[in-house]
Amino acid sequence: MTQDPFAPRTDDVPEPGLYPGVPADADREAARPAAANAPGALSIRGLAKRFGEKIAVNGINLDVPAGSFYGLVGPNGAGKTTSLSMATGLLRPDYGQVLIHDVDVWGQPLEAKKLMGILPDGVRLFDRLSGEQLVTYAGLLRGMDRNTVASRVADLLQALDLTNDAGTLVVDYSAGMTKKIALASALIHAPKLLVLDEPFESVDPISAANIRDILHSYVGSGGTVIVSSHVMDLVQRMCDHVAVIAGGNVLAAGTVDEVRGDSSLEDRFVELVGGRNQTEGLEWLRTS
Ligand SMILES: Nc1ncnc2c1ncn2[C@@H]1O[C@H](COP(=O)(O)OP(=O)(O)O)[C@@H](O)[C@H]1O
Ligand SMILES: [Mg+2]
Repeated sequence: MTQDPFAPRTDDVPEPGLYPGVPADADREAARPAAANAPGALSIRGLAKRFGEKIAVNGINLDVPAGSFYGLVGPNGAGKTTSLSMATGLLRPDYGQVLIHDVDVWGQPLEAKKLMGILPDGVRLFDRLSGEQLVTYAGLLRGMDRNTVASRVADLLQALDLTNDAGTLVVDYSAGMTKKIALASALIHAPKLLVLDEPFESVDPISAANIRDILHSYVGSGGTVIVSSHVMDLVQRMCDHVAVIAGGNVLAAGTVDEVRGDSSLEDRFVELVGGRNQTEGLEWLRTS
C-alpha cells in the first residue's frame, strides 16, 4: 500500500509540551489498544487537534464497548464535535489513532465508513432535495439496491413522523425536522455504530421520545450508539455509559453509575468541570 502523504502522523510523537495530554513515547505503546482485550465498537488513543494556539482536543483516550449506549457530555466548546469529527473520518487529527470495530478510521477509511452511520452537527445537507430524496440518495450512495432503499425510506419516514413532509425540500424543514431527516440518512444502511452529534438539539419532546425509542431498540438488537450532548439529564436517562469532556480532556468515563457515584450526573458534572459563574456583577439586571 502506498503511503498517503496527508495521513495523520499517528505513529509520531508531537513535540513535548505541544499537547500536554499526549503521552510521552514510552507510555504510548502501553496505551495502545490491544485488539484482543479491547474489542470495542470505538477505541480512541491519543487523539489531538489544535486550531492555531487553541488546543481543541488534548490527546484523549476513549473506549466505547460494543452494544453500549454511550453519552459524550461536556459544556459548549469542550471539544465534543472536534473529537467526533476526527473519530468518524470527517476531520483529520493532528495525532492519534481511532479504531472502529478494529478498523483504523484513518488507515482504512472506506472499510471504517461502512461500519458507521453519522449525524454530524452543523454540516450542510443537500437541502435542495426533498426529505425523501435525501434519504434515498444516502441509501444509494451506500450502494444499496433501489427496492431495499425505497422500503427502508418509507419505514424511516414513518418512524420519524416525516411521512407528510416527505416531498418538502429539506431547506424548508424546521431545525428539528432537519435533525430527524439527517438521522434517517444515518440509519438507512443499518450500520453497526451510530455517531450522533447533538441529535436532540431543537427537536420537540415527542420527536425526541420517538428517536430515543428507535435508538434503544437499535442498541437492543446489537448496535452501538454514541451521542454527544450538553444536556446531562438526557444522557443520564438514556445512556448506560458516559464520558465527561471539558477543555479538550476526558475528565471521567465509564458506566453512568461509575461516573456519577452517589450524586446525580448533573452535580458530578459541575463538580468535575467546575466553573459555576457567580451571578454577582449583574446587579443592574434587577427590575425592581
Ligand atoms: N474550525 C475551527 N477553527 C478554530 N477553532 C475551532 C474550530 N472548531 C472548533 N474550534 C474550537 O475548538 C474548541 C472545541 O470546539 P467543539 O469541538 O466544537 O466543541 P463542542 O462541540 O464540545 O461544543 C472550541 O474552543 C472551538 O472554538
Ligand atoms: Mg459541538
